[in-house]
Amino acid sequence: MAVSPCFDAGSDYCPCVLAELGQCVACSLIRGEPTCKCGWSGLCIYAEFLRAGSKARPRRRELSARILSREEIARTPRTRAFLLELEVPKELSAWCEAPGSFVLVRPRGLPERFNVPLSVMSSRDGILTLAVQVVGPKTVALEGSSREGRQVTLVGPFWAGIQGLEHLSRHAGGSVLIVAKGIAQACVVPAARYVNLKRGTVRALLGGGTLGSVFVLSRLLAAGASAEVLPKEDDHNLGRISSELSAHRYDVLLSAGADVQHNGLRQLLKQMEDPPAFAWTSNFSMTCAEGICGSCLTGGLRSCKAHIPESI
Ligand SMILES: Cc1cc2nc3c(=O)[nH]c(=O)nc-3n(C[C@H](O)[C@H](O)[C@H](O)COP(=O)(O)OP(=O)(O)OC[C@H]3O[C@@H](n4cnc5c(N)ncnc54)[C@H](O)[C@@H]3O)c2cc1C
Ligand code: FES
Repeated sequence: MAVSPCFDAGSDYCPCVLAELGQCVACSLIRGEPTCKCGWSGLCIYAEFLRAGSKARPRRRELSARILSREEIARTPRTRAFLLELEVPKELSAWCEAPGSFVLVRPRGLPERFNVPLSVMSSRDGILTLAVQVVGPKTVALEGSSREGRQVTLVGPFWAGIQGLEHLSRHAGGSVLIVAKGIAQACVVPAARYVNLKRGTVRALLGGGTLGSVFVLSRLLAAGASAEVLPKEDDHNLGRISSELSAHRYDVLLSAGADVQHNGLRQLLKQMEDPPAFAWTSNFSMTCAEGICGSCLTGGLRSCKAHIPESI
């Protein structure tokens, strides 16, 4: 069975119930195998588990979050999207500042299967800002119950929203190119802020995608990034992005968008002699984000917790 570093390793939520069940995503010893295969990610989950008396730490608790505001960012017969500001405990909002953070949100009173994973666009002093595109049953339900002053059910923080995050951490003081399109723009704001804090530089190439709205521009500029809004092009701007990658030395390329965008950019990088490292936003289906339900399984790994290697 595949093992891979876990986004929760070393957090308040590790070891989790998967360890009790012998199903830890990162530790082959906890899984009952005779040898350690974790490759040492800086801490030993097995030792932590034994120290904790082979018991899981308490899991993330669901809470009620009040909607402070709702702002439409797209409203056409075919496309609907809106921003939500939610009031949450300050400790939770502090843990949501990390790049790749997301929360699960659903209408109050509905069961867990209505959980919508949403990237944290901004997090400060007990206020989370999220962007929601309405695409199917769960987001339609959330749209219907999202009114100022109402409460939604929220659980978090989770951190597996950006795969390849380790490259961003390693090169945070370097040079990062972000390509962000559509609703996935939301998750690049904390990434830009993080790189800026580490004194790196961020350039962002943005597109509205199906939303037709570039809603992060002012936030990215405030986070110290330089940004350009690209026009719609037949080649999805791959030519423009290729020129950008050749003209400047970037340490990391962060792709925020649909899988087709991730794959297009991967192809560009394959043609380069010395390509930047690649990070990409997660588009997996998720329900529990705790490694239990299996909605997010890919290549034998639970992508809500595991770092997914580029080879999968
Ligand atoms: C870590 C993470 C962060 C996310 N952040 C955001 C966010 O900030 N804002 C936001 O609006 N959405 C975000 N999503 C996607 C969002 O969670 C899904 O669109 C939603 O759960 C779909 O549920 P549904 O029942 O409304 O639609 P479904 O019936 O599940 O899907 C309807 C349509 O959307 C497509 N779809 C479903 N899920 C995804 C996905 N993850 N990526 C691409 N296409 C998908 C399906 O192929 C289908 O065509 C994120 C997903 C993940 C995993
Ligand atoms: S979302 Fe449930 S196992 Fe990953």
